[in-house]
Amino acid sequence: MPITAFNSVSDGLEPSRRNRDHFITNTSIDDDGPWVPYAEGVWIQPCCFDVTSGGFSVLLRGLPGAQLGVHYHVGTVRGYTLRGRWRYLEHDWVAGPGAFIYEPAGEAHTLVIADDSSEPALIFFVVEGGLIYLDRAEGGGFAAYEDGFSMLELTRNHYQQAGLDVRQLDLLIR
Ligand SMILES: [Fe+2]
Repeated sequence: MPITAFNSVSDGLEPSRRNRDHFITNTSIDDDGPWVPYAEGVWIQPCCFDVTSGGFSVLLRGLPGAQLGVHYHVGTVRGYTLRGRWRYLEHDWVAGPGAFIYEPAGEAHTLVIADDSSEPALIFFVVEGGLIYLDRAEGGGFAAYEDGFSMLELTRNHYQQAGLDVRQLDLLIR
């Protein structure tokens, strides 16, 4: 779950383990990949924890009909659809395989996987900066916060509980 209380945070790495080099990481686009539960019917695989700018990049998988709570982005979002069909309730377009989405900063939206999507949606998102979950769609107030740090904590917790190698996540921190 996104965080609801704030303190100073860091990536938790010793300075000698911080890395500025480029990296490649492999995601699994199959159903049995190392998916991290994120919301009802929605999972993510982390690609990058950008703790320098506060953002993150993830591969998101959502079942038809699943949705994320309405949230506000303080920065830009870029999305690329690999599979399935999805939309935001606040827009009239529907994205399908091959669709690239650019979202300016300052947008509140509700991501929904289309009920009639013939397969789970797979979307790669690059999120600049944090996002704020809202308590309602219209004129909503703060409900919870998410950014590169909270995503790192969420995925570390899941990896530990699932017996996965948590150190693999450190390789994705920049
Ligand atoms: Fe969003």
